[in-house]
Amino acid sequence: MCGIVGYVGNKSVADILVDGLEQLEYRGYDSSGVAVMNKEEITVFKAIGKLNNLRTELSKHVGEFEKATMGIGHIRWATHGAPTVLNAHPHTCNCGNLVLVHNGIIENYKELREMLTKEGCVFRSQTDTEVVAHLVARMYAKTKDLAEAVRQASKQIEGAYALCVMHNNHKNTLVLTKRNAPLLVGIGEGEFFAASDVPAIIKHTKKAMYLNDNQVVVLTPDKMTLTDSEGNILPQKIEILPWEPVALSKMGYKHYMLKEIHEQPDVIRNILVGKLHAPDENIILNEVKLTKETLKNLNRIQIIACGTSLHAAMVGKYIIENFCGIAVDVEASSEYIYRRTVTDEHTLVIGVSQSGETADTLTAIKQSKAKGSHILIITNRPDSAMAREADSLVPVNAGIEVSVAATKSYTAQLMAFYLLALYMAEVKESVSKEELKNLKAEMMILPQKIEQVLSTTEEIQKSARKYSSTKDFIYVARGINFPTALEGALKLKEISYINATGYPAGELKHGPIAMLDETMPVLSILMNGCVYEKLLSNSEEAKARNARMIALTNSKDEKLDDLFENIIRVPDVDELYSPLLAIIPLQLLAYYIAEFLGKDVDQPRNLAKSVTVE
Ligand code: AGP
Repeated sequence: MCGIVGYVGNKSVADILVDGLEQLEYRGYDSSGVAVMNKEEITVFKAIGKLNNLRTELSKHVGEFEKATMGIGHIRWATHGAPTVLNAHPHTCNCGNLVLVHNGIIENYKELREMLTKEGCVFRSQTDTEVVAHLVARMYAKTKDLAEAVRQASKQIEGAYALCVMHNNHKNTLVLTKRNAPLLVGIGEGEFFAASDVPAIIKHTKKAMYLNDNQVVVLTPDKMTLTDSEGNILPQKIEILPWEPVALSKMGYKHYMLKEIHEQPDVIRNILVGKLHAPDENIILNEVKLTKETLKNLNRIQIIACGTSLHAAMVGKYIIENFCGIAVDVEASSEYIYRRTVTDEHTLVIGVSQSGETADTLTAIKQSKAKGSHILIITNRPDSAMAREADSLVPVNAGIEVSVAATKSYTAQLMAFYLLALYMAEVKESVSKEELKNLKAEMMILPQKIEQVLSTTEEIQKSARKYSSTKDFIYVARGINFPTALEGALKLKEISYINATGYPAGELKHGPIAMLDETMPVLSILMNGCVYEKLLSNSEEAKARNARMIALTNSKDEKLDDLFENIIRVPDVDELYSPLLAIIPLQLLAYYIAEFLGKDVDQPRNLAKSVTVE
């Protein structure tokens, strides 16, 4: 959840580090720090709060590091120990000669800390990371070889880590290693970059090498040496990153979230390119390896995900069961991994993750893979750890999503599920050719329909003002749009901090209805289809308790005007595709409420974009 950058070369390092951290700020933002190699020795600068505080701190010491050309940096999302200057990275060993930054969790840090304390190490922070600094320094004292010290220390560490290490005795050397946490090297002319994610380096180079678990890399300005955990030299797999620096610009929008919401029609167009050419043609998912035989042998499908991806998974269940007639369970990854799951070689396990890094989902996938299940990953990051575990892959092609609140990656995940479900239905022949053709034809015009929804932004903005002073918000729906209610509520609570909850509308009268009175907004997601009338009745029940009723609908039903004080309209669409349209106004509503309240929309408090701890 934290971000790491490193640089060794011939340019002034401080700006490179801080700019890199800025690009990773979405990963965590409660404190930050850099260590730079000056002529004499390493100097460390840290600050709590947003990155600007580190900038201010550095501006007081410019003379101390302007000539430095090597350094490491870190942006933190606190796990062990509060966000204080002492707990901020980089961390140092006793004598301060060895300095490192770390992303991940050291699970056996208590045992290591106890052992190291007995050996005389003095701990200054409450972090798990500091044990690694002492441990590597201890190994270095024996070996006098920094890479070897990192290798030996790694063998004693349990958990997840990406590490970037420097030492006063090695004035132009960075050593990196990783296990279960991402780390890559960017390759320039006479310079190397290290980063936990592409945005930190893409401005400088597109040439890169991803590290695999337990590999160790030594970087000097003109050389990169890759070894395995035993020190054997390994060949280097260098690739060209398929990224453009412009992806990291707000393109004139006030926030990334708003830009990303407006990108959705194009995202869906991009997804369809190459996967669906015409309604009477088959869906092409080149990296899905599900044969008729595999599908015939399946007893069930389990979909595992967290947060917004979990909501996409819930829609996925609905459509896969509907088109393919296979039983689907959906579960939060964090609940899946600590129980005895009935998963075997007859189970298809689908992991859904924007980042492809979420620790709970990655663990769940590894567990089910070990039980022999076919693993299908739906991710926005085909370069991620999760993608590497996949037997089948559906890339969602949403482009980088910077705002912590997921928007375009959600609609892209829904598209991935539509394509996958129809693909499986084709292979299984579980839906008639005529029906498939109609569904594909409608799928191809979804981007225009989303554009129509986005053209009503001003109306939604007005509604947002109207409800921005509420303390609570209820979203209700039934059937395929129940996950839309959950996702709409999640969007609102994560960026505005308003207490918002999604309920299946039929459940209102089993408890939540007790909360309704004239102060409570209740938003009904009333899409034409099999549950429309039922949901209308549930809305009547809420209205009878004086709730402030809002409809999000594609119905022309005149009854709605009496029942609802506010109606948000979306174009008509097949019920099965309605979650894709219905979520757009809810994203906008959440955005404009948060923006009106002056919240930090792109970086809401306490959150991080990639949750790499369980
Ligand atoms: C959504 O707005 C959140 N940022 C969060 O719920 C997110 O969807 C969740 O952490 C899962 O992340 P992933 O898709 O990268 O696995």
